[in-house]
Amino acid sequence: MDYRIKSFDEYKDTYKRSVDDPEKFWAEIAEHFTWQKKWDKTLEWNFDEPKIEWFKGAKLNITENCLDRHLAKRGNKLALIWEPNDPKERYKRFTFKDIHERVCRLANVLKSKGVKKGDRVAIYMPMIPELMFSLLACARIGAIHNVVFAGFSASALADRINDSQCKMVLTADGLFRGTKEIPVKAVVNEALKECPSVQTTLVAKRTGWDVKMQEGRDFWLDDELEKAEAACPAEPMDAEDPLFILYTSGSTGKPKGVVHTCGGYMVYTAYTFANVFQPEESDIYWCTADIGWVTGHSYIVYGPLLNGTTTLMFEGVPTYPGPGRFWQICDKHSVSQFYTAPTAIRALMAHGEDHVLSYGLYTLKVLGSVGEPINREAWEWYQVHVGKGRCPVIDTWWQTETGGIMISAMGDFMPLKPTFAGLPHPGIQPVLLSQEGEEITEPHVQGYLAIKFPWPGMLRTTWGDHERCKNTYFSHYKGYYFTGDGAKKDEDGMFRISGRVDDVINVSGHRFGTAEIENAINSLDDLVAESAVVGYPHEIKGQAIYAYVITKQSPDNPEKLRAEIVEAVVSEIGRIAKPDKIQFVTGLPKTRSGKIMRRILRKIAEGEFDKVGDTSTLLDPDVVDEIKAGAL
Ligand code: WTA
Repeated sequence: MDYRIKSFDEYKDTYKRSVDDPEKFWAEIAEHFTWQKKWDKTLEWNFDEPKIEWFKGAKLNITENCLDRHLAKRGNKLALIWEPNDPKERYKRFTFKDIHERVCRLANVLKSKGVKKGDRVAIYMPMIPELMFSLLACARIGAIHNVVFAGFSASALADRINDSQCKMVLTADGLFRGTKEIPVKAVVNEALKECPSVQTTLVAKRTGWDVKMQEGRDFWLDDELEKAEAACPAEPMDAEDPLFILYTSGSTGKPKGVVHTCGGYMVYTAYTFANVFQPEESDIYWCTADIGWVTGHSYIVYGPLLNGTTTLMFEGVPTYPGPGRFWQICDKHSVSQFYTAPTAIRALMAHGEDHVLSYGLYTLKVLGSVGEPINREAWEWYQVHVGKGRCPVIDTWWQTETGGIMISAMGDFMPLKPTFAGLPHPGIQPVLLSQEGEEITEPHVQGYLAIKFPWPGMLRTTWGDHERCKNTYFSHYKGYYFTGDGAKKDEDGMFRISGRVDDVINVSGHRFGTAEIENAINSLDDLVAESAVVGYPHEIKGQAIYAYVITKQSPDNPEKLRAEIVEAVVSEIGRIAKPDKIQFVTGLPKTRSGKIMRRILRKIAEGEFDKVGDTSTLLDPDVVDEIKAGAL
């Protein structure tokens, strides 16, 4: 199945065809997959409702495309290499045949516990092979997976389970991450106190800890697998049936459940994976993300397996047991394509290049980056020290909502320019819009990044609330999907993404809404009157969180109160959303209509006091001086 683009000229040609006749283009790509029944219509759409349907009338199962289809030619080829947290522990390897069998068995266990097509299943697991098998087992029987990153708190997990009314939770006893040991099952137990929809949990063994199991509800995964049959037919799915829900933060309210569907998501992740990483049959591909995020869904699990590529999954962190771990793994498993986040590169840069220079890294061919804009220093370090000047560094821009990579180079034949994500993939029609919604055509002008034509991998709705999907993505600019990012283009049409233009903060490549964090802080309602949260530049994380908090009484022990605020955020959301700075203030800069002027707070957090701009429209301009005086 070779649909890979092989040269810059071919890219230009393919891109033109994809825009001239998108339906014909995507129908040709879709021909490369196994369908139980072909589609009646390639595309129906409008961005007003919005309603987007790709490959309507087609029947398929994505796991037949990830697994069954490869059995004849690649049955004994490695599909998954699993590298544990502790390098002294033995790694594990699974062929396509192995995974096929494990997924079918697990699918039968799900069925035996009453899970049916269309049911939602939450997955809250460490980065162990069972996590990958769980996604695929759901897909096998048409259950909709809802993976929740295992660093989220019990309360965040409960919210996500309740919003989508999950029937089952797949989890593990505990997890190892670097030097940390986290009692995963205990978090699930806590969450499930508030989740009446959950009837069953299946618990994988990872740490061997003694955990509390609730009779009749909780079962050890291994025991159930032993009883299960090894064959499980793949459920025929409509192309537009949901494949999964993944919660992500926006600028308002609670995180929303982005919904992706079986057919379009399959075609899009497979095609983009093949073009960006150009895998050859014997290559080993490694993406360092966690499967709890969209990058792991699309580019650890589905993209590679759809292409029959060996994918590596790593349980640990870049700096354990030392800052050479990533490179040691690359050499140990002869990794060819490596995909990571700028924050990881910056963290490793800070430890100095000695840790990378002692590794050969001869097998590397392509280096990818995702999650936030990659700054020039990190790009160059990655290119020089990791790629040894031989490998392209590919900056990939995309989002949970887009399903797959939208703007990036491919393989080693595209123009590269540090800090630029580059050119759009075939089928993607990005535009820059002015505040008024006019398309900006001249180069070097900053605009709002929007997409004007559907692509197969785009979100279809937000779970249980289609209005919210419409309001968030399709209402700012009529007729466009709005990304929430700002960008500009150079004279060659290459895009440079500057980051979010809404109230979303990107901490180490993870999205948080300011409202979400403020709600967590305000939950301390006997101590906190009001709060406002902004992002500020951080050398390693990209952005860090700065919270301005009005307390009910003047805090006599500010350090203790800070700790309580941090604790509230950790318990409502998770450790990853912890504010780095908390400043106590007596007022916030508000307009006469009561709106907080975050622009001012952002400038103060950045230390750019002289750039706060006009404050004359504020209700109380003096508050700005007070905040500046107390800035951290
Ligand atoms: C940001 C992650 C610049 C952007 C796949 C986007 C990037 C948000 C890049 C989506 C990049 C991601 N350059 N910014 N290469 N990649 N972003 O949903 O702001 O976790 O809107 O998806 O991350 O984050 P999400």
